[in-house]
Amino acid sequence: MKTTSIKAWAMTATALCLVSCATPNSTAYQEDVQKVLAASFRAEGQAGMDRLTTDEANRLCSEADYKGKPLSDKQSEKIRTDNFKTIQWPKNNQFIGDYKQGEVIAQDGRGKTWSDKEGSVNGGNCYNCHQISKTEISHGTLGPSLYNYGKLRGVTDVNSPNAKPIIDYTWAKLWNARGYNACSNMPRFGHNGILTETQLQHLMALLLDPKSPVNQ
Ligand code: HEC
Repeated sequence: MKTTSIKAWAMTATALCLVSCATPNSTAYQEDVQKVLAASFRAEGQAGMDRLTTDEANRLCSEADYKGKPLSDKQSEKIRTDNFKTIQWPKNNQFIGDYKQGEVIAQDGRGKTWSDKEGSVNGGNCYNCHQISKTEISHGTLGPSLYNYGKLRGVTDVNSPNAKPIIDYTWAKLWNARGYNACSNMPRFGHNGILTETQLQHLMALLLDPKSPVNQ
C-alpha cells in the first residue's frame, strides 16, 4: 500500500471511530471489559460473582480514572457524605484494643480469596500499603507512612478528651476511607465487612496507644 492510501485509510478509520469505535477510555470499551470479566471469572469458595458488582462510588471513581477526568466537587461531596453515613461507631464507646494484636492483624495479608475457608478471619494487609512499626522494613508506599501516627498527632493519653477528635477520625477512616476521601484507594474495612469491630479496636491501639511500638 502506498503511504497516501495508508493515510487515507487511517483517516477514514478515525472518522468512523468517532461514531462507534470503543477506545479504552470509552464507556462501550469498559462495558466490553465487564463482559470479558464476567465470562472469565468463576465463583469459588467465598469469592462469588458478586465481586464484579460495584457500588456507585467505585463506578464513578473508575470512570473518572479511565476517562482521565476528575469527579466534580459535587460528585465527590456526595460520595463522601453517603459513605460517611455508613460508619458504625464501636459499641460501649470502646475504640482502643491491644496494640500487640493490632500488629498481627496489620501484618496479615490473608482473606477474601477463593482459597480462604468460609467464615475464616481476614487480615488487614496494612503493611502492603503503609509503613507502620519501624522494625518491619518490608512495606508498601501507596499510602502514607503511619509510623509515629499517634505521637505526631499529640496523643499522649487515649482517654483524654484532647485525643477524641483524632480517635474519631481514625476509626471513621478505617471503617470507610471514602467518608473523607471520595476515591480513596484504601479498602473500606468496616463497611465491606473485611475486619470486625474487635480487630479495628486492636489496629486503633497499634496506631494511637502511646505504648505501641508505632509511637516509640
Ligand atoms: C491498598 C492500599 C491500602 C491498604 C491495604 C491500607 N491502606 Fe491505609 N491508606 C491508603 C491510602 C492510599 C491512604 C491515603 C489516602 C486516603 O487518605 O484515603 C491511606 C490512609 C490511611 C490513614 C489516614 C492517614 C492520615 O494521616 O490521615 C490511616 C489511619 C490508614 N490508612 C490506616 C490503615 C490501616 C490500619 C490499614 C490496615 C487495616 C490500612 N490503612 C490499609 C492505602 C491503604
